[in-house]
Amino acid sequence: MSIIYDEKQQLFHLQTRNSSYLMEIEEGGVLAHLYFGEKIDSYHGIRKYPRLERSFSPNVPESKNREISLDTLLQESSSVGNGDFRIPSCQIRLANGNSTVDFRYSSHQIFVGKHEIKGMPQSFVKKSDQAETLKIILEDKNAQVNLELYYTLFKDSSVIARSEKLINKGAEPLFLTKLMSFQIDFPANEFEVMHFEGAWAREQTIMREKIGKGVKLLGSRRGTSSHQENPSFILTSSATTEKSGDVYGFCLVYSGNHETNLEKDQYEQLRVMMGINSFEFDWKLESNEQFQTPEVLMNYTNQGFTDHSLIFHSFMKNHIIRKFPEKERPILINNWEATYFDFTEEKLLHLAEEASHLGIELFVLDDGWFGKRNSDTTSLGDWKVNKQKFPNGLANFSKKISQRGLSFGLWIEPEMVSPESTLYEQHPEWALQVPGKKGVLGRGQYVLDFSQATVRKHIFEQFVAVLDTLDFSYIKWDMNRSLTDVFSTVLPPDKQGTVYHRYVLGLYEFLEMLIKRYPNVLFENCSGGGGRFDAGMLYYMPQTWISDNTDAGARLQIRYGASYFYPINVMGAHVSAIPNHQTGRMISLETRGNVAMSGILGYECDLTKLSPEEKETIKKQISFYKQHRKLIQTGTFYRLSNPFIKNEGAWSFVSPDKSECLLFYFRKTAIASGPINILKLSGLDKKAIYETDQGVAYSGEELMTLGFYMEYYLPGDYASKRVYLKRRGE
Ligand code: DGJ
Repeated sequence: MSIIYDEKQQLFHLQTRNSSYLMEIEEGGVLAHLYFGEKIDSYHGIRKYPRLERSFSPNVPESKNREISLDTLLQESSSVGNGDFRIPSCQIRLANGNSTVDFRYSSHQIFVGKHEIKGMPQSFVKKSDQAETLKIILEDKNAQVNLELYYTLFKDSSVIARSEKLINKGAEPLFLTKLMSFQIDFPANEFEVMHFEGAWAREQTIMREKIGKGVKLLGSRRGTSSHQENPSFILTSSATTEKSGDVYGFCLVYSGNHETNLEKDQYEQLRVMMGINSFEFDWKLESNEQFQTPEVLMNYTNQGFTDHSLIFHSFMKNHIIRKFPEKERPILINNWEATYFDFTEEKLLHLAEEASHLGIELFVLDDGWFGKRNSDTTSLGDWKVNKQKFPNGLANFSKKISQRGLSFGLWIEPEMVSPESTLYEQHPEWALQVPGKKGVLGRGQYVLDFSQATVRKHIFEQFVAVLDTLDFSYIKWDMNRSLTDVFSTVLPPDKQGTVYHRYVLGLYEFLEMLIKRYPNVLFENCSGGGGRFDAGMLYYMPQTWISDNTDAGARLQIRYGASYFYPINVMGAHVSAIPNHQTGRMISLETRGNVAMSGILGYECDLTKLSPEEKETIKKQISFYKQHRKLIQTGTFYRLSNPFIKNEGAWSFVSPDKSECLLFYFRKTAIASGPINILKLSGLDKKAIYETDQGVAYSGEELMTLGFYMEYYLPGDYASKRVYLKRRGE
């Protein structure tokens, strides 16, 4: 990695392990974007932006040159009112009502390590010399505003971490209404965008679309990163495959409202940007105050989607996930789909006993353990143990769990309050609400105003009072609705436009306190499944319940989509009952097991009701998983067949030394006289001979080129097969 400033050419060259990023200070001091793509050794000024006068393209005031216009120039940031008519990355309203700002290069610094982004999740470096940062200061002297652009490069990765900071240098306050974390203007191109849309229980659905003229807006306005649109996207070309082609990946390290803008302009150039959603965003900055955006992780590869994903997976493990990035995760039983709210201590202990016999390691007590919580209409906010369900208290129950050979985990939902609760009776003003207006309910609950320190303190203390008495090793943090009535009773009118972001900052502060207090506890992030599955949350919680949809068929796709940016060892997956509670589908226990064990295996069904044969199958699944857990959780993940577009889904896990490979194959619909399927594997040792668990031998080269015949005749819908391959002699 290196960051070079060529003074003669007024050029910045960021060189990562396999890419180059070029910027140039253009006439009039405008910071132009030149190139992001395949690595080049040096640049000799050949790509000066074409000088051409175009009608209706106004000129830069500092230059007499009528061929220089912000209307056409590729830039690193943009604003309004200055002759650039495309979507801006920064919008400000000054005290005098003016919103025209025009940033020019002022200075820059290149330093070892990286700057700190206060109060927000961000990429970290273990040793400062593993990273280098470029800070470019742009200024608008007239408006008295500075904009700082940050670019961090890492020694062990080609990912570039990008963020921005705006500083009010004037004497009067200003209002910041939009500030993206990055902007890139690509020259004319035929990019496609790939993004991960969805809904509750249908997260991470892959959309790959041509980018036409005009503006495309992706994002979330729900207060969370959302089930509907993951804060990540890819720019690619129609020819790109898993193994070759251009892939630009962008992933926001943030858990609230986010926005991606793509604008293909009149000259087929593409402006892309991503950051906090400007919807309802209005941040007052007093004189000398500053606003810092979250980070975007961006990467380029010309080696296709597999390389893109492997780069992001290892970046997340090495620079985002602070806790247990590679630690083996326990196999859990969660009582939610087994009992919902209808349980007694006795019933749970039976479940735990059965789990223990089967080899399960962790018992997770889900919703319903507190207040009068026998349904979802009550008690959120009253975090005191329900004495009817646990007459001897929760500490006593957790002891009984450990006596049965399991560790103990607990579900919590700190950000919420039920209208029927002591907390709401005493402090209705602690919920997000618009004065005088009836609040909008979601799942029968209100959202607490986590932007308020008093609220956070009170909730934190309630949890500490419970948790400090327990012997526990795991927490599932849930969040079950989108934000509405986003108004804080403690903020003045001119700060109401800050509540969405302050809420997220409050959440991060709370999480930081909680993980510091319980440093050895494994935290699993959940928001009705994958409603807040993002790199920001991974900074605090290394595991995620990626969907409430436990149907193995649906999960096949959700996992496949999620794997483009996020590593497999953050994704929890459970075997549940049939008919499945979300889809009603009947899928064999074998396939349910194969899907769930392609991640962090868990069970979420009433184990006490299973037949002896089913228990035997589960025992075998668990023992297989324990034997290969390290390979699955820390191996390299390869997508082999896309279940969104094919009847088959397949993937494999390969150990870092390439000596082992575990292949999973899923055939969705049974077809009589169907085609014979060939799966070409990835990441193997070309020269080695691999033997399957059935004793058949192949060379690594053959497996990756000629491929592996999958039997087509697997009985029934959603049939599956798992093949373990080992390098001969290991
Ligand atoms: C939604 C979660 O995603 C489920 O797993 C479960 O914990 C319920 N909430 C409990 O209310």
